[in-house]
Amino acid sequence: MDNRSKYSFKAFSETDDYQKVNADIVRHWVSSMLTERSKQIGSLLDIATGMGTMVQLFLNQLPGQKPTVICLDQDESSLVQTTDRLKSLSFDVKHLHTSVEDLELPDESVDVAIWGNAIHYLQAEGQERALTAIRRVLKKRGWLFFNTAFYAEARPPETLVFYRAQVRKAVSHLNSLGIQRDRAQKRPAASNFPPASHYETLLTKIGFSVNEMRQVAARLHQPAWEHLSSFRQYAAGALHGYVPEVAADAMREAVAPAIEKHGQRDENNAPYVLRNWLAVSARRENLSSGVTSM
Ligand SMILES: C[S@@+](CC[C@H](N)C(=O)[O-])C[C@H]1O[C@@H](n2cnc3c(N)ncnc32)[C@H](O)[C@@H]1O
Repeated sequence: MDNRSKYSFKAFSETDDYQKVNADIVRHWVSSMLTERSKQIGSLLDIATGMGTMVQLFLNQLPGQKPTVICLDQDESSLVQTTDRLKSLSFDVKHLHTSVEDLELPDESVDVAIWGNAIHYLQAEGQERALTAIRRVLKKRGWLFFNTAFYAEARPPETLVFYRAQVRKAVSHLNSLGIQRDRAQKRPAASNFPPASHYETLLTKIGFSVNEMRQVAARLHQPAWEHLSSFRQYAAGALHGYVPEVAADAMREAVAPAIEKHGQRDENNAPYVLRNWLAVSARRENLSSGVTSM
């Protein structure tokens, strides 16, 4: 992630909306896991740790437990910040500065792996490599949890008017500045996100049994959309053919008028637009090869 996107993501991850949907997802994961006998977690692998939102939410749901925590990220600075914070809370924390596709830990050494809000950064081939590596390091019947708000069904159909209005506003603003789109540029491949069923197929192929695929609708208010729209990648996907930084600024500016017109209203009359999160829980199959039982 470039520095600008890192900064926007940090701001996004600190919004109440982001915390709320992820807390809801993690609470549900932990309660389904704890009802299935495995009460004590010895080791927890947090993949794509970033600012540590998911690992922190997860540990909050395990009061009285102090599992060994392994934080993994390809970005060293956020990794160091997060592991220092967890150490100050007296967790035994290790950090792995690597990409998830190149995960190297001993076989069958991890009870639970979580991979919050980042699987969509990888294309299918990278996801397959990563999931194969995760499966290898998980103990038999170990748990894998991941979530994403970037998949084909993430945008409820009734919210498409909001996205279209935002893009229209952004384009007309750019036109008014005399900034033209490079029509030869194609939409980046990374912005074509796969459907939820892709994950089910992939997990089964690699040797996981899918425990649950759940869709959670989150209310995102203006500040959350503004931070999200400031990601270079997000803006480049929505508004391709422009310099990504310029597109990101225009998309952020366009949030206010678009959400004012097309958002739903909450109890305080503040506008919001729903965004779906896909939350997946899976378990490593017992078999030693990548073939699942029928
Ligand atoms: C959107 S943040 C997610 C942070 C946190 N897990 C959460 O849910 O709030 C994405 C993080 O994934 C990391 N990341 C992206 N691709 C990765 C990869 N292939 N391997 C390891 N880390 C990756 C980035 O460096 C960034 O810190």
